[in-house]
Amino acid sequence: MTILVTGSAGFIGSNFVLDWLAGHDESVVSLDKLTYAGNRANLASLDGDARHIFVQGDISDTELIARLLAQYQPRAVLNFAAESHVDRSILGPEDFIQTNVVGTFHLLEAVRAYWSTEGAPRKSEFRFLHVSTDEVYGSLEPDSPAFTENHPYQPNSPYSASKAASDHLVRAYHHTYGLPVLTTNCSNNYGPYHFPEKLIPLVIRNALAGEALPIYGDGQQIRDWLYVKDHCSAIRRVLESGLPGETYNVGGWNEKSNLDVVHHICDTLDQESPRNDGRSYRQQISFVKDRPGHDRRYAIDATRLERELGWKPAETFETGIAKTVRWYLDNQAWVESVASGAYREWLSKQYS
Ligand code: NAD
Ligand code: TYD
Repeated sequence: MTILVTGSAGFIGSNFVLDWLAGHDESVVSLDKLTYAGNRANLASLDGDARHIFVQGDISDTELIARLLAQYQPRAVLNFAAESHVDRSILGPEDFIQTNVVGTFHLLEAVRAYWSTEGAPRKSEFRFLHVSTDEVYGSLEPDSPAFTENHPYQPNSPYSASKAASDHLVRAYHHTYGLPVLTTNCSNNYGPYHFPEKLIPLVIRNALAGEALPIYGDGQQIRDWLYVKDHCSAIRRVLESGLPGETYNVGGWNEKSNLDVVHHICDTLDQESPRNDGRSYRQQISFVKDRPGHDRRYAIDATRLERELGWKPAETFETGIAKTVRWYLDNQAWVESVASGAYREWLSKQYS
């Protein structure tokens, strides 16, 4: 048995593949375009492992996908591949439409063609699992209840709009063609291998480099944070037991303001790797211009996943951040290797 995982060299995809092969002998065919966000080194510990086959390629390449499906006959395809950074989608939305919308469409077409030729029972057991985000639901008022799976889609950024479009395509392929799809909508992740353009790894990296810790606007925007390995365990659970055609919200019950998150990281670093001058990393916080159209609050109600599929996160925000900070302290070489010239160009474009 085999699964095909797209976007496997990115943050969540690489954690998923590493955790999967740590717990299963079922092999993984990994597909990734290796954009700026994809890093082959994330999967380096699997080099020489016969259970892992890495292929560099694009989910829009229907011929390549068809060839991989015919050759490896996976029982499931898990789609993590995406352009994923809201700020980049604001400065340049085109890649988001290409990969998240057009790419997902091409991938679905290739998978539909493969799945249609399968005989029972493989046809009914096959799954296409689409990894999506809570951002498709839009922004919540301070006192509104958290997003359930029935919350209307109201995406506000080019990123969330492109993810919403992909979710709709996935839904339509189930409704129209009967493709056995599953969709997960997860809150903000953090953990190892997180590219340092997103809030948590950016703050850890900048703090240790003695640089400013940029907080957009008043820092009172709220996100619901989930440790990446808990997201991966939720995806495994949904793959195993989710009902085809259904969506599952995934979240950590950890609503925090951005300022609280940054304070918590600074305090953890003050303990684990104090500054030479003995002052707190909080000194480096700098309030900067707000993100255009910045969503004020996201919150996920994960009751369905917990009640129907028996999933629970293993980490609290405090234990997850402690593990994350430790990982970044122990993996400074990884941070240096991804902080290339293109990364520095991005920082100067975004923060200058
Ligand atoms: P990421 O940007 O770290 O990784 C994306 C990966 O996809 C990269 O390895 C990149 O090379 C690859 N990729 C991009 N375009 C491709 C294409 N056309 N063909 C093949 N590969 C391509 O993103 P991530 O944070 O790991 O997110 C993975 C998925 O989870 C995304 O679909 C994202 O929308 C979703 N998600 C992310 C979060 C989060 O907090 N990071 C939360 C909820 C959902
Ligand atoms: P981010 O990690 O980009 O995730 P998302 O926008 O998908 O939620 O940002 C998390 C929050 O942190 C978001 O409200 C924007 C804010 N933020 C900052 O305040 N400063 C930064 O430099 C970045 C990257 C994000």
